[in-house]
Amino acid sequence: MGRPLKEKINDLDLKNWKEYGDLLTDSLWLINERDKTGAHNNQYHGNFVPQIPHQLMRRFTKKGDVVLDAFLGNGTTLIESKRLGRNGIGIELLPDVAESARKNINQGELLNNTNDAFTDIIVGDSTAAITKDKVIDVLHEHGRNSIHHIILHPPYHDIIKFSNKQEDLSNTGTVEDFARRFGDVIENFVDLLERYRYLSIVIGDKYTNSEWVPLGFYLMQETMKRAPNLRLKSILVKNMANNRAKINQEKLWRYRALVGGFYIFKHEYILIFQKI
Ligand SMILES: C[S@@+](CC[C@H](N)C(=O)[O-])C[C@H]1O[C@@H](n2cnc3c(N)ncnc32)[C@H](O)[C@@H]1O
Repeated sequence: MGRPLKEKINDLDLKNWKEYGDLLTDSLWLINERDKTGAHNNQYHGNFVPQIPHQLMRRFTKKGDVVLDAFLGNGTTLIESKRLGRNGIGIELLPDVAESARKNINQGELLNNTNDAFTDIIVGDSTAAITKDKVIDVLHEHGRNSIHHIILHPPYHDIIKFSNKQEDLSNTGTVEDFARRFGDVIENFVDLLERYRYLSIVIGDKYTNSEWVPLGFYLMQETMKRAPNLRLKSILVKNMANNRAKINQEKLWRYRALVGGFYIFKHEYILIFQKI
């Protein structure tokens, strides 16, 4: 009988593959300008550029598929999923942040969006079993059982403290604790991901006490340990342009780097896994 025929996982017409010149296929992503069109704004400290979920959804989902973002923040993924006609479920721990995301995805161009896609926001802790139950409830409400793409953009450990809540991943004590809690999120949702579908992790590293702490590598290892049915497909390196914390301080940072014998990090990672 041979291998089962794999279902198509995107809407690309590969007979006309040359028409998709804007789709990235290299592992180095140089995105210098954030997409600020429509509902996107840059008001949330710690948000990612909309081009990240946009590119991922076009490669790894079809119209009508369901995308889960378990660290929703200001709603970037759901704005983009709605624009692209994908259904979106977002989880955010902080009620005020979730409320702001809700406003963002229901304004302007998106109010009259004719794509028949649902967007649901759950306020909750993505490491908790009860949050998984809520995701399943939302899926059932829409006659669904599974997810077609998972996007995870967790805090970069404690670089930005999002709150004082114990459940907040930016409040975990050690890097090991942070990785373990992130692994809990992977375990919580990987069952819901359909076979052959993709999970993407967006994460940057940090410096602490004159030492480079490779958060990206920690999370990659943890993911492989916690979900052996996820296969690493790509490690993307994306430039960090206009990092707010360092804006107008380039000279100072350059001096520090020369004195301290280190390099200023200007990149973050997008780790792409496929469920097998
Ligand atoms: C890096 S931000 C995500 C930003 C988002 N991609 C955007 O574009 O707005 C991480 C988010 O995860 C949330 N968070 C932290 N711990 C969480 C947890 N245990 N469950 C759900 N959300 C959590 C934080 O409140 C923060 O909004």
